[in-house]
Amino acid sequence: MLKDYLNQKKEILENKVNEYLSDLEYPWQIADGMKYAILNGGKRIRPILLFMILDLFNKDEKFAYPTAVGLEMIHSYSLVHDDLPALDNDDYRRGKLTTHKKFGEAEGILIGDALLTHAFNIFTEKNIGLLSSEKIVEIVRLTSSYAGINGMIGGQMIDIESEGKKIDMKTLKYIHKNKTGKLLRLPIEFGCIIADVPLEIRKKLEEFADLIGLAFQIKDDILDIEGDFDTLGKPIGSDVELEKSTYPSLIGLVESKKLLIEITENAKNIIKNNFSEEKGKLLIELADYIAFRKK
Ligand code: IPE
Ligand code: IPE
Ligand code: MG
Ligand code: MG
Ligand code: MG
Repeated sequence: MLKDYLNQKKEILENKVNEYLSDLEYPWQIADGMKYAILNGGKRIRPILLFMILDLFNKDEKFAYPTAVGLEMIHSYSLVHDDLPALDNDDYRRGKLTTHKKFGEAEGILIGDALLTHAFNIFTEKNIGLLSSEKIVEIVRLTSSYAGINGMIGGQMIDIESEGKKIDMKTLKYIHKNKTGKLLRLPIEFGCIIADVPLEIRKKLEEFADLIGLAFQIKDDILDIEGDFDTLGKPIGSDVELEKSTYPSLIGLVESKKLLIEITENAKNIIKNNFSEEKGKLLIELADYIAFRKK
C-alpha cells in the first residue's frame, strides 16, 4: 500500500540525512539551521520518486541514498529561500517557524546557500565507490541545470516578476514547469541514470514526470486557497495576498481542479501503457496521491 511505502521510505531518507549531516557542527547557526530546514516533516516526495524508479527496475535503493539526500537538501534550500521576506515572506513551513524566522534573515540566506552547496559535496563524496564517475558527473550536470537559471531559479524569478500582473498561459506554464517541475523531474531522471534505464523507456518516464510536476504545483495552488493550515503546516492565502499568478487565479478554481484530474489521468495512462499492473501500481497511486493530497 502506498501509505506504508511512503512512511517506510520517509524514515529511511531521514535516517540517511541524519547520518550524512551528523559531522556538521561549526558554525552552529549554519549546522543547526541546515538540520532544522531539512529535518522538519516534509513529505519527501522527490527522494521517494527516486526510490520508486529503482524499485521499478529492481535496482537496490542503497545506490540512491546520497543522491536522494542531496536532492532533498536542494529542495529544502529552495523552500528556505522561497519563504524569505524578499520572496514569499512566509512565517510557517512544515508546521514550524520558517528557517529565517527561527535563525534570522542573514542566517536564512546562508543556511539556504549551505544546503545547496553541501548537496554537491554529498553527490560527489558519498557516491564515490557506489556509482561510476560517469554517473556521478551526469547527476551533478543535470542538477546544476535543473536547479538554476534553466530550472527552479528561472521559474522562481518569473513567479516573483508576475506578482500583481495578468500573465498569459505560456508564461504560467513556464513558471510551473521550472519552479516546481524541474526538481520533480530530477529524481525520475536520477533513477534512470542509476538503474541504466534504456532511453526509450526513460522518455516515457520523463513525460510522466512532467505531468505529475505540473499536477503537483496546480494542487499546491489549490491548497493555498482551500487547504487547512494545521494540516498543510504552511499559511494559506499567501498567493492571493501576494497576487501570485497561479492556475486558480488565471483559469479559476473549478477549471484548475478539472485540469488537475485530466493531467493526472494522462500521467497514469503513461504508466498503464508501458508497465505491468503490478510494476506500475505504486507510481499510479503516487499520481493520485499528488492530485488528492491534503498537504
Ligand atoms: C512545496 O513542496 C513547494 C512546491 C514546489 C510546491 P512540497 O509540497 O514537496 O514541500 P514539503 O517538502 O512536503 O514540505
Ligand atoms: C515554490 O512555490 C516552489 C519553489 C521553488 C520553492 P510556492 O511558493 O507556491 O511554494 P509554497 O506554497 O511556498 O510551498
Ligand atoms: Mg513561491
Ligand atoms: Mg512560497
Ligand atoms: Mg504554494
